Amino acid sequence: MSGYRLTTVETVRERGSWAFTAREGDADREVFLVPCADEPGGKTDAGATDGEDQPVRAWINRCTHEDQRLHREEVGAVTRGGSVVCPKHGSAFDTCEGSCDNGEAAGTTLRSIDVEVRDCAVFLTDDDLTYLYEGLPDDDGDDQGSASSSHLTF
Ligand code: FES
Repeated sequence: MSGYRLTTVETVRERGSWAFTAREGDADREVFLVPCADEPGGKTDAGATDGEDQPVRAWINRCTHEDQRLHREEVGAVTRGGSVVCPKHGSAFDTCEGSCDNGEAAGTTLRSIDVEVRDCAVFLTDDDLTYLYEGLPDDDGDDQGSASSSHLTF
C-alpha cells in the first residue's frame, strides 16, 4: 500500500472541500476532495459493497460544461444536499458519483481521481498523478484577495 498523504478526512469535512495540484504527464491538474457517504441524511448504504463506501471522493476541479473551477480558492466548493454546485451556471454534481442530471452539464460526469482513506487520512493513489502542492495555481487575475488599504493620514 502506498500513496501520497494529502490531508485528513476531518479537514475535508470541516472545510467542505480541499484542493491540491498534481502533475499528469506534462500538464498540471487541479483536484478537489469532498466528503461523501457521511453527509447528514446522506446515502451511506445504498449499494455499498466490499467496504468501498469511502468517506471522501476526489474530482478534477473543472466543470464538464465549460472551463470553470468548482472549488475556488477563496470559497472552496459550494455543496448542497450531497452535490457540488457549479458557480457559473448552477449544475449540481453528485459528491459521491460525480454525475450530473441537471442544467447545462446534464448527462455528464466529473473525472474521478483515485484516493484512499487509511487511519482517517486521505492518500492519493492514482497512478496517473503525482502530487505537487496544496491549493490551486495562481491564475491571471482570478484572485482578488489582496486589496490592501492603508490608513495613512497626514
Ligand atoms: S460552466 Fe458549469 S454548468 Fe456551465
